[in-house]
Amino acid sequence: MSSTVQAPVRASSESARQWWASAVIYQIYPRSFADGNHDGMGDLKGVTGRLPYLAKLGVDAIWLSPFYRSPQADAGYDVADYRDVDPLFGTLADFDEMLQKAHAAGLKVIVDLVPNHTSDEHVWFQEALAAAPGSAARARYMFREGKGEDGSLPPNNWQSIFGGPAWTRVPDGQWYLHLFDTKQPDLNWENEEVWAEMRSVLRFWLDRGVDGFRVDVAHGLVKDPALPDWTGQAAMVEGQDAAPHAATAEAANAPEALPSQEAGHVSKPALDPPSPFFDQDGVHEVYRDWHKVLAEYGPDRMMVAEAWVEPAERLVRYIRPDEMQQAFNFDFLLAGWDARQMAKVIADSLEASASVGAPTTWVLSNHDTVRHPSRFGLADPTTFPKGIALEDEQPDEALGLARARAATLVALALPGSAYVYQGEELGLPEHTTLDAEFRQDPTFFRTKGVERGRDGCRVPLPWISEAPQFGFSGPTADAPAAWLPQPESYRRLAADVQEGVAGSTLELYRTAIAARREHALGTGSLSWPELNDPDAGLLAFSNGQVLVLANMGRDRAALPDGYDVLVASSPEAVQDGSLTPNSAVWLVQA
Ligand code: GLC
Repeated sequence: MSSTVQAPVRASSESARQWWASAVIYQIYPRSFADGNHDGMGDLKGVTGRLPYLAKLGVDAIWLSPFYRSPQADAGYDVADYRDVDPLFGTLADFDEMLQKAHAAGLKVIVDLVPNHTSDEHVWFQEALAAAPGSAARARYMFREGKGEDGSLPPNNWQSIFGGPAWTRVPDGQWYLHLFDTKQPDLNWENEEVWAEMRSVLRFWLDRGVDGFRVDVAHGLVKDPALPDWTGQAAMVEGQDAAPHAATAEAANAPEALPSQEAGHVSKPALDPPSPFFDQDGVHEVYRDWHKVLAEYGPDRMMVAEAWVEPAERLVRYIRPDEMQQAFNFDFLLAGWDARQMAKVIADSLEASASVGAPTTWVLSNHDTVRHPSRFGLADPTTFPKGIALEDEQPDEALGLARARAATLVALALPGSAYVYQGEELGLPEHTTLDAEFRQDPTFFRTKGVERGRDGCRVPLPWISEAPQFGFSGPTADAPAAWLPQPESYRRLAADVQEGVAGSTLELYRTAIAARREHALGTGSLSWPELNDPDAGLLAFSNGQVLVLANMGRDRAALPDGYDVLVASSPEAVQDGSLTPNSAVWLVQA
């Protein structure tokens, strides 16, 4: 297997010239972006209607989380039909219209691909259930006999990332593997039919004209064939502990020595033994195969890996020249509001990506993590709660937003591609007081509420301050309730009250994205000036003509002489020639 061979550095500048190498990519979570048919659930028509807003924001591309046919057991990451749109979100014709209009507006379109598992309602899994043990239909999934005299114990001790056991028993006594929910059976990537099917799914969407794929759980497809027991802890966010033991004790043979932890707050665990189900070398063969499929459509199609893999040297194996084009830089997301950690992650990730000749990405928030304005408003702005509920520490919203805006100026000034999660540009916080009765995330239920879950970052966007559901379903008075309730704080953050208002978060994003383009920061290169002093809380770097300063310390930091402010994270960022704490600026020589 060539994964042990050192990949050559991508010599050609062809990839560096591709749009994705420096793109700002906006993540749309379709159920919460905009509701075009006024039923309380976001949809593709809603996306089409808001394309002018996205074009004005200045982003280069959109990535849509799944809109495929699905029973929605994991908000669409449980796909029942990879080639159709779920009626909740519209029709294939709606997709085609959205794609065509996005392209006409100059926006590339990336769709989500979920290859690790299907829905249990996928026709393949239904066939597998109806077929006998040992059949070809079962061989597409990970069916095994159980352990113990009567096979009543699961085949190994693996725990679901969402909490609870990773195995479920079917009536004839066999067990099937699901790294996520019971309704998300894992596919068997040793099966040629599975390879052929996913290739065909890629072609289905490429033929329709999509520009790329975000590959879900890209590190998970291939498992150690021995399916050995494992004493480590898996988590969606590496660096977080897995589902707490208390909530998973129902697993027949749950490992005994998992550390207990307080609800909601987690810290980095000690090093685990290598996982037998994540980051196996065999996954890279899949991406080499897909790379060839995309190449048939030209050099400008891309894949971005969702791979929670450490360290950066392991992550960049996914973006070697013959694999994917990008991987989400979750180390950056995990660095928190901390100058030392941020400086280290920036340097390490640039170096690691350069070793394979690929661009880096910068990510602060997505649909799986607490929104960064809320994380940065916690007493310790480097922690990663798995959701926040009323009974947990409540973030300081103003402080968190100030820091989030500054962190955004860091992310958008770095060379490479930047991801923006919908609502970031409005400065939306997490919904931190969502009542349990509204929660839908399976992680909440599978951990019996110990993990609050991801609903708080998935709340429908506020478009119009004085309309029902803040205009999520349009301006009409008779709109039904949105699928998740919005917090009252969203009223003052609605897009219409920020539009054209100097100093608003929306205008900051527009200004920064435009300045990033004008100064070619995405294709630039980074250097560290002498005034960079992470130990004192000051992060400073230069990218081309732009000098970036972010003050993560407690004291004001003097600005160097001879510079003008190009962009400031807030109107109060610069006072008396110094940068106030929790602020950032882009400077250019006067
Ligand atoms: C990825 C998705 C997440 C989903 C999981 C299972 O981590 O981002 O939302 O729950 O995969 O598909």
